[in-house]
Amino acid sequence: MTKPRVFITRRIPAAGLDLILEHCEANIWEDELPPPKERLLEEVRGVQGLLSLLTDPIDEEVMDAAGPSLKVISNHAVGVDNVDVAAATARHIPVGHTPGILTETTADFAFGLLLAAARRIVEGDSCVRRGGWKTWGPTFMLGQDVHGATLGIVGFGRIGQAVARRALGFAMRVLYYDPHPKALPEDLIPHIQAVDFDVLLRESDFITLHTPLTPQTHHLFNDQAFEKMKPSAILVNTARGAVVDPQALYRALKSRRIAAAALDVTEPEPIPLDSPLLELDNLLITPHIASASHATRNKMARMAAENLLAGLRGERLPYCVNPEVYE
Ligand code: GLV
Repeated sequence: MTKPRVFITRRIPAAGLDLILEHCEANIWEDELPPPKERLLEEVRGVQGLLSLLTDPIDEEVMDAAGPSLKVISNHAVGVDNVDVAAATARHIPVGHTPGILTETTADFAFGLLLAAARRIVEGDSCVRRGGWKTWGPTFMLGQDVHGATLGIVGFGRIGQAVARRALGFAMRVLYYDPHPKALPEDLIPHIQAVDFDVLLRESDFITLHTPLTPQTHHLFNDQAFEKMKPSAILVNTARGAVVDPQALYRALKSRRIAAAALDVTEPEPIPLDSPLLELDNLLITPHIASASHATRNKMARMAAENLLAGLRGERLPYCVNPEVYE
């Protein structure tokens, strides 16, 4: 029996790749960088399955280039803003993603960024290395306390809730804003408070973003939002870069309208090396690695492979973002 043809837009961990190679004739894009659009359009021609990363825009053009053979798109990420899901649904193509397994890993990282920005950990490291540590100083490198502070969580799904649990361990007051409230675990309810966006902006010492990127959340953090935040506030973004308007963020940080930001995601990605944001000492930045632990990336690869293989067999994807294709 001939194996189904699939295109995989980057080499993923063996935990998932080996499963795919067992059952498919796979063409893997071996570069470190994503396939350029023209190459992507060529490589997908006639495939039955496509495994994409969050760096690959999978739009109508890609789906049309693949043609009617395309039975499944499996995105190796929980966020699917890189995939035109409506276009896939219109073509009856199920789209898979990798929810749940990266929740705790991402929450660990978001909290790590929060602590690092509050207590100037990265700045402290560079200070020592460049010879700036002359003595112990009573007012040397002062930062902000995390314990007892107010944390505002924007987007209170799985990851937002996991960050809230960490915050409770630090005796923080936890506020959240979510326009699409989900069912909350009983044990969290007494310790958290739902508030309007404006209240969250005004009252939070730290704001952490855990919302998907949608037309409603695009540039949610703009000049008006920064204007309402405390001048001592610190913004943490491990969600999607475009939830924050980078120019407005630059203005807010440069003028000390807010104290600092810690970003794992930017718009665009990677951030251009000549971005003015990189000149600021109150910005901490990492290269979109919040889910990057060995264990979690193995689980993501496996889940993405399982979605792909289920779609190729014509079975329901275990983790499908557009289940309406099955109606
Ligand atoms: C990572 O950002 C993901 O969406 O999985």
